[in-house]
Amino acid sequence: MKSIKVGMLGLGTVGTGVVRIVEGHQEDLQRKIGAPVEISKIVVRDKTKRRNIALDDAKLTEDPYEVIRDPEIDVIIEVMGGIDATKGYLLEALEHGKQVVTANKDLMALHGAEIMSFASEKGCDVLYEASVAGGIPILRTIVEGFSSDRITKMMGIVNGTTNFILTKMSQEGASYSEVLKEAQQLGYAEQDPTSDVEGLDAAYKMTILGTLGFQTGVSMEDVSVSGISGVTKEDIDYGKRLGYEVKLLGIAERQDDFISLSVQPTMVKKSHPLASVHGVFNAVYVYGEAVGETMFYGPGAGEMPTATSVVADLVAVSKNLQLGISGKAGFSPYRTKKLKTDDQ
Ligand code: NDP
Ligand code: HSE
Repeated sequence: MKSIKVGMLGLGTVGTGVVRIVEGHQEDLQRKIGAPVEISKIVVRDKTKRRNIALDDAKLTEDPYEVIRDPEIDVIIEVMGGIDATKGYLLEALEHGKQVVTANKDLMALHGAEIMSFASEKGCDVLYEASVAGGIPILRTIVEGFSSDRITKMMGIVNGTTNFILTKMSQEGASYSEVLKEAQQLGYAEQDPTSDVEGLDAAYKMTILGTLGFQTGVSMEDVSVSGISGVTKEDIDYGKRLGYEVKLLGIAERQDDFISLSVQPTMVKKSHPLASVHGVFNAVYVYGEAVGETMFYGPGAGEMPTATSVVADLVAVSKNLQLGISGKAGFSPYRTKKLKTDDQ
């Protein structure tokens, strides 16, 4: 039986988890896909770096083109991060007919429309479940689970690093900078954690949620963003005395042809379920006209939760390959209508 050959861009926090799941769940994956899956090449920045996973060194390369141009490779998993160069690698991978899985919210929020449209021209799938809320399958949920409904609002905690920081400041009185360092050591934070603490990471995620949930073209400029770097222990203690927890909330709301999107630190009443979302956990409320209010909760960052979503996408694109339906399924941003935003 011919195996599905995977080339990975990146072997950091998420990439390491992907290797662990693909190796550890091989039998299950093979049964679900109908073929064995093999990670055959992995691009890293530094081949000599010590890794906390044992693997054949011959699989490692520092040359992305060796992987994306390899005719043997069926699927590219991008867990490297970055925007411009990475976009170039993925477009070239699609040009070579590869299926693509990515965890890169920056890239999908900024260039998702172009990437999806090129993928569709080439008859390829691009899936990106891990890009929003790590281990919570929220993109599949809003695209597939809500396909019968009309989403009017999505609201929640979509950044694990800042929720980890705010939780530790609130519960342990820890200092902002100490906890940020801890979040970096645990692999929750972005390579440049400014993206987390200034709310950009959450804004990228709200852009993706808005695009898929409202089936329209939402861009980063549509999101009003404010992060947590200015939140002090005094703010948190003051809120607590009044019965509130400070949380970084992302909100995307639709009324008729108008949408508004924001990310901002918010005082959440202690009795509200979002106030009890602690540490690296995320939670997303989705309101549908027919279903009413629903809530999705789970780990929002970190090695294994994120890798779970990446490998679920790998299973989906591999199944499509086996069935010969690549590029015909998956999440499409349905950019049919530009809705008005606060700026217009
Ligand atoms: P890491 O920094 O841990 O890993 C990045 C990996 O990519 C490393 O293996 C690094 O190589 C490699 N790499 C980076 N730049 C280059 C380059 N220019 N050329 C070759 N290799 C390169 O990142 P994460 O695993 O944390 O994140 C990866 C992606 O997943 C990002 O897009 C992030 O936003 C996203 N994501 C991360 C989550 C998390 O919890 N960490 C959750 C959800 C999404 P080397 O090892 O040699 O340094
Ligand atoms: N830095 C991100 C976070 C990773 O903390 O939520 C998950 O997308």
